[in-house]
Amino acid sequence: MGSKNKLRRFAENEGFTNVDQPDRDILLKNDFPHAGKWNAFFGKDQPLVLELGCGKGEYTLGLARRYPDRNFIGVDIKGARLWRGAKTALEEPLENVVFLRTHIELIDKAFAQGEVSEIWITFPDPQIKFKRTKHRMTNPEFLERYRRILKPGGRLHLKTDSEFMHGYTLGLLQGMGLKIHYSNHDIYRNEGAPEEVTEIQTFYEKQYLEEGKPITYLSFSLES
Ligand SMILES: C[S@@+](CC[C@H](N)C(=O)[O-])C[C@H]1O[C@@H](n2cnc3c(N)ncnc32)[C@H](O)[C@@H]1O
Repeated sequence: MGSKNKLRRFAENEGFTNVDQPDRDILLKNDFPHAGKWNAFFGKDQPLVLELGCGKGEYTLGLARRYPDRNFIGVDIKGARLWRGAKTALEEPLENVVFLRTHIELIDKAFAQGEVSEIWITFPDPQIKFKRTKHRMTNPEFLERYRRILKPGGRLHLKTDSEFMHGYTLGLLQGMGLKIHYSNHDIYRNEGAPEEVTEIQTFYEKQYLEEGKPITYLSFSLES
């Protein structure tokens, strides 16, 4: 995308009622006004579901259409990508959708303890090199951040094209004695994956499917 288009999208994000772009310093000072009050932002008291690294927001939108009785927040640092999801949500309209532009490293500053019911992680960069482990979105440090904001019993969903990411996360969870609800290393060939896992496809997923890559899915909780 050209830089002119990106700038136009950034400007439009500023005016979108369903996009929030908190200042990093405000988050770091634990001064973010929506933390603990997201249901007031939506104007509806319903379970809160996050998609981390949402890109253009296909999963957030797909789940929001299926579950109008839940509130959804797509999180990504790239404003020009989440603009796509936000624009679609405003046009439809989908009133149970918000996009939050921030780093996932700060996720526990944007939500209060126990505020979130479910977290989806869709097609994260697997960060295969050892030196990149600290950026891998299911490493123990990230899991600890998710634990802080999830309700007791809250579920996480990892959908990826990376056998490495799937296996790494599965091994970590087993080693930590955490609850694995469901695991499938090739969801379109092995039966049993939930409908919302096979029927909603993201921008990246469609590209991986064209390349014939298997898609994996893991559902887990951060308790034994
Ligand atoms: C491979 S893309 C997947 C996008 C989308 N989930 C999909 O399947 O089409 C990974 C996304 O994660 C976002 N991302 C990566 N690291 C991030 C971080 N630390 N904080 C916020 N977003 C991040 C990127 O901007 C990118 O949009």
